[in-house]
Amino acid sequence: MNHGAPDPRSLGAELSGHVKGQVLISASLAPYTTFRVGGPADLLLVAESEEDLIAAAKVVAGRLPVAIVGRGSNLLVADDGFRGLAVTLGRFFRAHRIDGETIRSGGAVYLPALARLTPRAGLTGFEFAAEIPATFGGAVRMNAGAHGRSMSDVLQWARVIDLANGAARRLHVADLGYRYRHSVLAPQEIVVEGEIRLERGSPEAVASEIATHLRWRRENQPPGRSAGSVFKNPPGDSAGRLLDAAGVKGLRIGGAHVSDVHANFIVADKGATASDVWRLMEQAATVVRDRLGVSLEREVRLLGSFQENSTST
Ligand code: EPU
Repeated sequence: MNHGAPDPRSLGAELSGHVKGQVLISASLAPYTTFRVGGPADLLLVAESEEDLIAAAKVVAGRLPVAIVGRGSNLLVADDGFRGLAVTLGRFFRAHRIDGETIRSGGAVYLPALARLTPRAGLTGFEFAAEIPATFGGAVRMNAGAHGRSMSDVLQWARVIDLANGAARRLHVADLGYRYRHSVLAPQEIVVEGEIRLERGSPEAVASEIATHLRWRRENQPPGRSAGSVFKNPPGDSAGRLLDAAGVKGLRIGGAHVSDVHANFIVADKGATASDVWRLMEQAATVVRDRLGVSLEREVRLLGSFQENSTST
């Protein structure tokens, strides 16, 4: 038996033999993120069935680190990539079904696309989701939200598979330990499906509220390659307000800059590296700490090694 570090190529070949989805070796993760920077994963599985996920757990768990990648709209991948298996959900997980006041959704469904179905269905309560560029699964995991509403307000249950052991379980919303931008799901638990419950509403009113949300977003958040809010809002305050007051708007490192539109957004310009983005995040937080005495907590998830050897969080 080989007790050394496992060879990703042979693990990849072994995994390929057990799954319907694709297993890619050394595929760049940059296209899987909205920052569009960062390096390759040793292995990338595009899962096309729940069995694929269970197989990934059986073949890879304990031999390589595993990370879940959704829409990548809250993720910064290191320039030298991720030494492990990245798992993303493929087309199989993009189905949805509307049944009365509930919508059942696969983990890979794009949240704004789901929200855009609600006017015609005459369902209200999910308008906020139209402006959140996440997958359904990613939004469930981090309790994504906007304008005072979040997934915890509408979710009924979620089905998750633990990539550490292949176990599946269905969690009721009350068991997800929801708080602001937080759930109890472990990093290796992947949300494959879930159900939200909405209320009857007028199609015109729902459509108009969605339009208002999208307009608000266009006016208050910058275009370009970003991951939305970099830092969580501290209790009772706004990270954007604090960063702005500390004077970081326009600050630039390499190809990354702090947006002039919203100080809690870092935009990766052409040629930016993950290191530029990461160093700018650190610098912005340092300026706020030094000038205003507030420690900001990062909302964006890191994957891979950054300076100081921080790995995935
Ligand atoms: N502000 C400034 N300067 C700035 C940015 C904001 O003074 O550069 C002030 C605003 O004027 C406002 C306050 O800060 O008084 C709050 O700003 P905003 O209304 O833009 O909301 P936010 O708290 O910064 C949150 C979410 C966003 C979500 C919006 C809309 C967090 C960390 N961010 O932003 O979510 O879109 O509310 O509901 O909770 C995300 O999580 O990635 C995200 C984009």
